[in-house]
Amino acid sequence: MNQYKIAPCQAHDSCASATECLAKDDGNWIMDRFQQADGVIVASPVYFGTISAQIKTFMDRTFFLFHHQKDLNAKCAGIIAIDGRGGSDEASRELGKFFRLGSSKVFILKGHAGPPDNDPKKQTELIKKAETIGQKIADMLLSNR
Ligand SMILES: Cc1cc2nc3c(=O)[nH]c(=O)nc-3n(C[C@H](O)[C@H](O)[C@H](O)COP(=O)(O)O)c2cc1C
Repeated sequence: MNQYKIAPCQAHDSCASATECLAKDDGNWIMDRFQQADGVIVASPVYFGTISAQIKTFMDRTFFLFHHQKDLNAKCAGIIAIDGRGGSDEASRELGKFFRLGSSKVFILKGHAGPPDNDPKKQTELIKKAETIGQKIADMLLSNR
């Protein structure tokens, strides 16, 4: 999310009658792909006991889908919430709100990575677990074809 321009939801009065979210930025194409994907994984570091502002900003934008009764197409999904010492339970619960639309089977990974200056590339066990989630989703999607 950090590399894209995604403005916070402005709760435009005309949201319900608009054909596209009125914020003209990367949030729109990401939201389209998020809605149409067969499988999705959402991930966040834990900041102050919950999800990052970046992912929450995108989550709020998906209110457009909710407003237009556009369920997620995803048959399965992954949630990854990584904290320093604690808070990934709360964050993974928050990320679960992405899947209030539709009926995706959801795989969850919660973990501790230590302080922010720890090198993420050295978190080999967490990386392996994240890869396993990706593999499970791919296997499930392929077996349903
Ligand atoms: C602004 C900020 C707030 C944080 N708040 C928490 C927290 O509440 N609980 C916690 O266990 N770790 C907290 N951390 C640590 C991060 O969750 C942890 O280091 C995580 O692995 C960072 O992911 P990253 O390596 O992708 O940046 C915080 C880090 C930052 C930068």
